[in-house]
Amino acid sequence: MKHVAVLLKESIAGLNIKDSGIYIDGTLGRGSHSGEILKRLNDGHLYAFDRDEAAMNESRDHLSAISDHFTLLHTNFSMMKEEMAKRGIRQVNGILLDLGVSSPQFDEASRGFSYRFDAPLDMRMDRRQSLNANEIVNTWSYEQLVSIFQRYGEERFAKQIARRIEKQRMDKPIETTFELVEIIRSVIPEKLLHKKGHPAKRIFQALRIAVNDELNELHQALEDGLALLAPQGRFCVISFHSLEDRMVKEAFVKASTPKYIDKRIPILPQDMPKAEYRLIGKKPISADEAELMENNRSHSAKLRIIERI
Ligand SMILES: C[S@@+](CC[C@H](N)C(=O)[O-])C[C@H]1O[C@@H](n2cnc3c(N)ncnc32)[C@H](O)[C@@H]1O
Repeated sequence: MKHVAVLLKESIAGLNIKDSGIYIDGTLGRGSHSGEILKRLNDGHLYAFDRDEAAMNESRDHLSAISDHFTLLHTNFSMMKEEMAKRGIRQVNGILLDLGVSSPQFDEASRGFSYRFDAPLDMRMDRRQSLNANEIVNTWSYEQLVSIFQRYGEERFAKQIARRIEKQRMDKPIETTFELVEIIRSVIPEKLLHKKGHPAKRIFQALRIAVNDELNELHQALEDGLALLAPQGRFCVISFHSLEDRMVKEAFVKASTPKYIDKRIPILPQDMPKAEYRLIGKKPISADEAELMENNRSHSAKLRIIERI
């Protein structure tokens, strides 16, 4: 199954790769971004993370055909600091995160990510993990369900859907994606069912974010990634929904703003705190016309870049 990489040339240009540098790709997927990084390394090294074993298996050959200057790490990108420390690496020259789920994950019915296929409710990126969508749907309280549907899905009918789930699961557990889609359809008013977008889209997004703890992962990676950057090192993040983009924007704006000093404190101009990072571009980069035509996933993509000074 093909994964068409999003904002590939923009993010690779954004990394401003040095051929002897150390790079982290936190989201290997099918390796398109990693491959482009590797092509630009001479005696540098790439550490590519993915929590999905399928990504490791399916990109290894592609990367090996380019060079052997890479290491695959089957773990969460929130572990980048620990993984680098284990190898005695304190600083890296660039980090890329291309967030979310890959097309092969969506398109493989059995993974349970998609409302388009009937499959067990799963949605784990890492199949070693125990929490899955089935457990959330069948055991989390009404309040917990409402909270994730509202926060991670911005679903208007969060309460009604959670209530219906609660009622339904008293008769028998909700096992499949299509059973869940039916519940969602039965709650959403008829006139809204045929509006733009699938009626289950927001609930599936919310469940996926909760199963994979996606926002905490991103929070940790932003904090540790910024600290790991060497001077002139770049951090590029591609996000696909507003919750993620807001987190990236806030973290990057905060990092690139000098520490506040009360004006009443006497301090020489040269001693004023300076920002340690600078934003590359004030606005996020979006896909160009050609990419928008070619790849549906690129419509919501936003790339933000920051550099350590
Ligand atoms: C959008 S895809 C990346 C596609 C990739 N850039 C390519 O060129 O094919 C996101 C990938 O990141 C992985 N992923 C998402 N969150 C992760 C996390 N917190 N830690 C490690 N991998 C993660 C997913 O399993 C998926 O394979």
